[in-house]
Amino acid sequence: MLPEIGALRPWADPSVVALKRLPMHTSSASASASLDGQWVFRLFSSPDAVPTDAVLGSTPVVGAGWTALLVPGTWSMQGVGDGPHYTNVRMPFAGPPPRLPEHNPTGVYRREFSLDQHVEGRTGPLVLTVGGADAVHVVYVNGTLVGYGTDARLPSEYDISPAVRPGRNDLAIVVVRYAAHSYLEDQDAWWLAGLHRGVRLERRPPIRVADVRVTADFDPATRLGSIALAVQVDPGQAPSAGLRVRWWVETPSGARLVPVVEGPVPHEHARAYEFTGFVVDAALDGLRVEPWSAERPALYTCRVELVDALGEVVDSTSRRLGFRRVRVEGNRLLVNGERVWIFGVNRHDHHPDRASAVTVEDLRSDLVTMRRHNVNAIRTSHYPNDDAFYDLCDELGFYVVDEANLEAHAYNRSLADDPRYRAAWLDRGARMVERDRNHPCVILWSLGNESGYGVNHDALAAWIRSTDPSRPVHYEDAIRIEGWQEGGRQVTDLVCPMYPSIDEIREYGESTTGPGGGRPLIMCEYSHAMGNSNGSLGDYWDVITTTPGLQGGFLWEWKDQALRQTLPDGRVRLAYGGQFGDRPHDGNFVADGLVAADGTPHPAMAEVAWVHRPVTVHLDDGALVVTSRRFFASLDDLDCTWELVVDGEVTRSGSWDLPLEAGERRVVPVPVPVPDRGDTRLTVRWTTRSDAWFAPAGYALAWDQVVLRAERIAPVPTGRPVDDLWPDAHTEPRPAVWRAATDNDGVKAAVDGAADLGLGGSTLARWRALGLDRLPAESVVRHEVTTERTEHGVRARHGFEVPADLDDLPRVGVVLEVDPRFTSLRWWGRGPHENYPDRARSAVLGTWTAAVEPCPYLVPQEFGLRTDTSWLELEDPHTGDRIRISTLGEPFAWSATRFGAHDLFEASNDSDLVPGPRLVVHLDAAHRGIGTGACGPDVLPQYRVRPGRYELAYAVSGTAGLGGVHQAPLEQEHRPLVRPD
Ligand code: GAL
Ligand code: MG
Repeated sequence: MLPEIGALRPWADPSVVALKRLPMHTSSASASASLDGQWVFRLFSSPDAVPTDAVLGSTPVVGAGWTALLVPGTWSMQGVGDGPHYTNVRMPFAGPPPRLPEHNPTGVYRREFSLDQHVEGRTGPLVLTVGGADAVHVVYVNGTLVGYGTDARLPSEYDISPAVRPGRNDLAIVVVRYAAHSYLEDQDAWWLAGLHRGVRLERRPPIRVADVRVTADFDPATRLGSIALAVQVDPGQAPSAGLRVRWWVETPSGARLVPVVEGPVPHEHARAYEFTGFVVDAALDGLRVEPWSAERPALYTCRVELVDALGEVVDSTSRRLGFRRVRVEGNRLLVNGERVWIFGVNRHDHHPDRASAVTVEDLRSDLVTMRRHNVNAIRTSHYPNDDAFYDLCDELGFYVVDEANLEAHAYNRSLADDPRYRAAWLDRGARMVERDRNHPCVILWSLGNESGYGVNHDALAAWIRSTDPSRPVHYEDAIRIEGWQEGGRQVTDLVCPMYPSIDEIREYGESTTGPGGGRPLIMCEYSHAMGNSNGSLGDYWDVITTTPGLQGGFLWEWKDQALRQTLPDGRVRLAYGGQFGDRPHDGNFVADGLVAADGTPHPAMAEVAWVHRPVTVHLDDGALVVTSRRFFASLDDLDCTWELVVDGEVTRSGSWDLPLEAGERRVVPVPVPVPDRGDTRLTVRWTTRSDAWFAPAGYALAWDQVVLRAERIAPVPTGRPVDDLWPDAHTEPRPAVWRAATDNDGVKAAVDGAADLGLGGSTLARWRALGLDRLPAESVVRHEVTTERTEHGVRARHGFEVPADLDDLPRVGVVLEVDPRFTSLRWWGRGPHENYPDRARSAVLGTWTAAVEPCPYLVPQEFGLRTDTSWLELEDPHTGDRIRISTLGEPFAWSATRFGAHDLFEASNDSDLVPGPRLVVHLDAAHRGIGTGACGPDVLPQYRVRPGRYELAYAVSGTAGLGGVHQAPLEQEHRPLVRPD
């Protein structure tokens, strides 16, 4: 049994949040020593099964049951004992709360530390910080209990001074995988266990600054800043008499903003009822400052010194701050007086190998990719992140919704009213605020996620509002339960729904009566990015930008939470729920990111970048209207260039000097005369002028294409019949109506087990009932074709009749198979990246090239479509042989991959996909949109394949190359509008 605590069993008691834990405070850069690295570790079957000697005595050596383990790191990802376990809503073990499973893996982490080595001779408390332990932890130093803590996503500090001795010391941290508190950590993510954030040791001065709380305001009307400071002093054992606090503020360039301010620390001998603690409050206003915003993150530094009666500086510290004001006024969320757009994403801590144990480099690389796609806001779904994350967001400029580690999803309605969980509820939210309140990046506090609505929420919201009136409060479930109009006002200043339809948000916005009415609507989650997804993103933004009360939202979610797994046969793959033998599980619902687990952007990211673009161009009355969507920064960091695209080819290009000011709108003439023939478009793009932290110079952040004349006439190909040239090259086109169902169409058999989630579209079930996945297309739709052979090849005209009872098909078109040596693709249509009827705004018309692509989605499904195409050319890059398919009527949609729809549909992991023997080319007269049906609205009616008549007419012609022509394989990276040719 664990000494001193084993009989108490606090992990089974929801009302115990911590033992001997020090109060939370705002973070600062401190001179702590890291205890990260290799520890010695042993796993037991439950906390009750840990023998006393596992935490006593000197640190064991590896062997005899003890293994080496990395800290930070979860043991679930380091191959010792129990692995990761994925569930979405349900708990991984049987309830009800606070019941725990009998088998409750408990890890004992051991290591030594030497006092001399870590704390250079200072006196004062020695503080151990456990950065984050999943789920709860117990700490022993030299066999003495020094503390117990809950909340896997915030640090816990313990004063270990009474337990240490000079020289070598033995540290033991016991981590219990499941606790009564796990019912509050039921987020839709992997259940993992261990010390996933760092462990540090710090000697603090005996008389010290315990905390510095800064509120830095900026008044947009006067453009002046003010600062309110509360310095909390810990006088240790000494009397506070004579102690003084001295502070000043430095500008971003290190100059002094105002002269040094000094004030006495209150004396404890003052009359007790007037004593407010050892806190020095100070304020300054009328400051000429540069405000902080995500666009211009101006960071100041507040330096604080504690001076004793003799004038000696006994402690000093600093905090960074930014002057800014966040307010909700009526239906507007204002940052420095501006109704900013929230171009947000929801981000979980995730790395394919280390899972929740992310490094500062991981955090930074997420932010780099975000900024490349014009993301300016992050919801820390669904728990506070490591300190480093907020520091980066302060510095690089991101708005953050800081969310408490509170999700009681499985017992959604009950725990929010449960007094046993009240202390934990308050503690989780309050400690987050106490740690993060100085960060200018934090613009909203979130009470957590999907926990119903109850008195515990009211208590937490009231605490936050009194403690930090400078920020509004956010909580989704209250408006879900009580309604959008007035519901849950006590706990949310925003209307922050998840996965609403476009009609719902429009109706809400229109019902808010001007700036005085309603609350701002910012979707806390929308456009669920599972697999091939994010259909209608442009439609959302059409409504957001034109409806009062709507300000944007946070896409769900940033990254596929897939984990790297080595299979028994040595193959390595990215795996999802159930693939680690975890039961019960919710399958691949954990993989729903805009970027793959390794950070590679999915194709929809181009659309994300486009809807978030910082400047727009549209045509109005023959002139170009250029509008900056920035609120604080000009566009002078971007170069603007234009291209005239006639019949898909760039015929003229030039640059513009358009350094628009924030919010400026300018009308400029079309730069060249429009030729009197040909499909004519003007593409305007903005690229970074110089190297930026997120991208090298020349990176496209914004683009638009305006139509000067729509006149799509595909030239008739003049080559030779393909089968004359290469008898093996292709087979006859067959009609096709099936696509490899996307995650949004429905949950396919390959990943069943997730089926009882009740999530996912019903579309797939309907298609299967119709037999679309099995029957030849000819037996589903009426098809007739006329084929004409000419000296240049073949001309085919297909007619399809979709009967009235076959509404909403995957596609209507043909499929043909071609020799796979044709690996290079060139087309006049929308591109360069994958696009679908409801996700094609970012894809502009031009002549593009690409290599035949692998499936970009973890669970194989339909991919690679390009819409609105006049001709497609397949080329063998080695010989230069080409097959051209040219429309004889309307533009078509197409894809060319090494996988048939059925092969994709059968496979459950991308790693199982073996490229087929032929290049599979689909030509579609119609293709269903993508929607977001896995969790949210399905494809809108206008993007569905309706009953009726469809026609597809094209000519196929070949040209033999000269041979030996070699073209380097094209880049796979999705870089919008960087023309590879
Ligand atoms: C939301 C939830 C997220 C996630 C998402 C579906 O309901 O807040 O955590 O589960 O749905 O992927
Ligand atoms: Mg949930």
